[in-house]
Formats: sequence, C-alpha cells, structure tokens
Amino acid sequence: MKIAMVGSGYVGLVSGACFADFGHEVVCIDKDPAKIESLHQGIMPIYEPGLAELVAGNAKAGRLNFTTDLAAGIDGAGAIFIAVGTPSRRGDGHADLSYVYSVAEEIGANLKQASVIVTKSTVPVGTGDEVERILTDANPGVRFAVASNPEFLREGAAIGDFKHPDRIVVGTEDDWARGVMTEVYRPLFLGRSPMLFTSRRSSELIKYAANAFLAVKITFINEMADLCEKVGADVQDVSRGIGMDGRIGAKFLHAGPGYGGSCFPKDTLALLKTAEDYEAPTRIVEAVVKVNDARKRAMGRKVIEALGGTDESRGKKVALLGLTFKPNTDDMRDAPSIAIAQALIDAGVSVAGYDPEGMAIAAPLMPEVAMQPDAYAAIEGADATVIVTEWDAFRALDLERIKRIAKAPVLVDLRNVYNPAEVRARGFSYSSIGRP
Ligand code: UDX
Repeated sequence: MKIAMVGSGYVGLVSGACFADFGHEVVCIDKDPAKIESLHQGIMPIYEPGLAELVAGNAKAGRLNFTTDLAAGIDGAGAIFIAVGTPSRRGDGHADLSYVYSVAEEIGANLKQASVIVTKSTVPVGTGDEVERILTDANPGVRFAVASNPEFLREGAAIGDFKHPDRIVVGTEDDWARGVMTEVYRPLFLGRSPMLFTSRRSSELIKYAANAFLAVKITFINEMADLCEKVGADVQDVSRGIGMDGRIGAKFLHAGPGYGGSCFPKDTLALLKTAEDYEAPTRIVEAVVKVNDARKRAMGRKVIEALGGTDESRGKKVALLGLTFKPNTDDMRDAPSIAIAQALIDAGVSVAGYDPEGMAIAAPLMPEVAMQPDAYAAIEGADATVIVTEWDAFRALDLERIKRIAKAPVLVDLRNVYNPAEVRARGFSYSSIGRP
C-alpha cells in the first residue's frame, strides 16, 4: 500500500521509515525544504540510533521517498498519516493544533482517491472530529475516514518500539478504515503485536492517559526516593520490591532528577487542560506536574549541598555530565539539566558541561555553561562532578583519573549509576537519589 506521512519530524520519520521497511511504499512529506533536501542526502534531522541506516536502506530500495509537495505526496495513498507537532500553546498549556488543522485543510483540498486520514500526532480528545469536519467542508468528492493511531515511541529506542510494540491502538468507528489500518499494520499483526480497536475519542485519550500514568509512576518513585533518604531506606530495593508485584510492574520505577522530554511535560499539561474544559479534574496529574517541576530545581540544591552549602559553593565549579533529557537522543526539551544549571549559576557556581550528542542544541539554551569536548575536560578542576543523564559513556568513568584532575573527589549521581559503597571506598564523597 502507498502510505503518505505528513510531517517528517521524529514520529513521522521513524514511522515512515519503519513502514517502508515492512514493504509499504512510503512518502514522507514536510514543508521545510531544508529538511527534505537533507533527507535526500541521507542526513537525519535528529539523532536516533539506527535511523540513518534504516532510511538509507529503504530509500535505496525505492520504498521511501521525501517531498515538500503534499499534493503529489498524498496522490494514490491508501492511508495518509498526520504526524506534525502539537507543541504546548504559549500561555495556557493547551496543545497547539494549528499545524494539524492546516495539514487537514491541505489534504482536503488535494485528495483524489479514497483514503484513511490518520492522526498520529498526539491530539486532545475531539480533534479527530474537527479534522473530519475540515475534510467534509473541503468536500474532496472521494471516500475518506478519519482514524486515530497514537504513537508510543520512546526516543532513543523508537525503531525497536515501532517494530515490537506492546500494542497498536486504532480509533475509528468505520469498518472500511479498520480494514485499511489492519492492512497497514499487517506485518506487525503477524508478529503478534496486539491491535486494539476503539472509538476515535477513546484512542485519543489512551495516548494522554498512558503518558500521564507513566509520569505518575516516575513521580511516585521520585517521592519515595526522597522519603528513603530521610528514613534510611534504599529506593532501588523499594522499586524492586514493589515492581515484582505483577499489578505494579517493574518499569518506569527508576528514581531520578524528574522526567523531561518532548512528551510527558507537554502531554500532562494538555491533559489537565482537557480535564479542566470538561470539568473532570485529574488532581493526581495536577500534583505530578507540580512535584516534577519543583524536583528539577531541587536537584540544583542537592548539588549545592554536595559542595558544602550555599555559602561554600559560591565561586566553585561543577561539571555536568549528560545534558539531554535522557540518553541516546539529542533532544533537550524540558531536560532537567536546564533547571539544574540555572540553579547553580544563580548560586554563583560556574558550570562546565558535556553531552555525547546534545551539545549543539544545549549550548544556546544554556549560554552560561562552558561546553567541553569530553567528560574529563569538563571535570578538570571541578569541585563536583554531576551525572545528570545516564549515557553509557558515564557508566564506567575512570575514577582515579577524576581524582587526579578534579579539584575535589565529589560525585553527585542523579541517576544511581554507581554503587555507593564502591565509589566511597575509592575515596569519593558520593551522593545519589534515595539511597543511604
Ligand atoms: C515517552 C513515552 O515513553 C512514549 O511512549 C511516548 O510516546 C513519548 O513519551 P520519551 O519521552 O522518549 O517517551 O522518554 P521516556 O523513556 O519515556 O522517558 C521520559 C522521561 O522520564 C525521561 O526524562 C526519563 O529520564 C524519565 N524516566 C523514565 C525516569 O526518570 N525514570 C524512569 O523510570 C523512566
């Protein structure tokens, strides 16, 4: 089947390349000519492990094409995915749907064959109804249906997540659209990934509910970590102890500096707005958003404590290792490192930073941080070394070298990568999250 993917950002590009890899004929469309030109040359707009190879292989095989021309791109497509951004609207946290609606208008004006229009972008409940209205008003004169098909891709692991999903959710009330979507996902279906058909509204809400629930889980364990520090318990044991209960599950119980990224912060806010609009408050999610925001700033205070407190830390130097919101991505959106660096700078601490992939994007976001070419250059002369993001490269740092080049052997491990007893035995002052 020919599939058109409108929006060649993170979700569109990964999904398009994976659909092509399954044997579909895919056209990725984007209105940014520079992005399309780069893609033609095999240059990826984002860092995602395995993506460049997947795109190159499928482009070479002729199954994956790129264009800025929406009308040509959707011509002959049996399914047209809308995968454009839905950022937080400035001022109120509502999802900004202007890109989704303008794409819907353009599709409506150019559709020449029967096609299922699928919103893959994360959109609030009821957006599918509006997309349908826009298409109906455009009166394309051919059969169409609007379906919802949220993505659950983790950055850094997106290709694996796409090819081996826990489930595929499709929201539509239309039998013909169900058939088309079954065809689109048949390769996964054969791989026994369950396909869940729901109403369009349920599907739209599933995406927000899933992300909000995961944000709740992370925030819950983060608060347990704070409690562990006070009562002398170990949050990693608590995590394991509760995670072995099948009803709770072991994943997303890793305590850290607070969640960030392109999805959880924006989607929790958008869910709150929907809940407010429909007068069905989701107080748990409200609390999670507040607790997580406060946590990022609190991590700055934790580093200041490790430096000896507010007065002692003025004029000292800190090395921040890992700036992206999580490893294996160059995404800096809502990264805890931003709030931590700011808290340190506000306290008169000078900050050096290093990240394996995120520095180009991080540098303009934190102009007062001195970016360094590698971890040890950042640690040189530092009064404390802070692991903010758990890139593999930071899992086996040369502790003896750190002792030689740093001003003080102080390690603040915000991702619990190291074993406290071992690091302390090597002569470090070590603090982590939720461990005695
Ligand atoms: C998330 C969802 O997992 C994905 O299904 C959705 O489609 C998009 O949002 P992503 O933002 O790529 O994916 O990252 P994820 O791996 O979920 O991590 C989000 C944040 O939570 C990161 O800041 C991460 O460091 C943090 N996290 C995650 C924890 O602090 N502890 C955990 O146990 C898990």
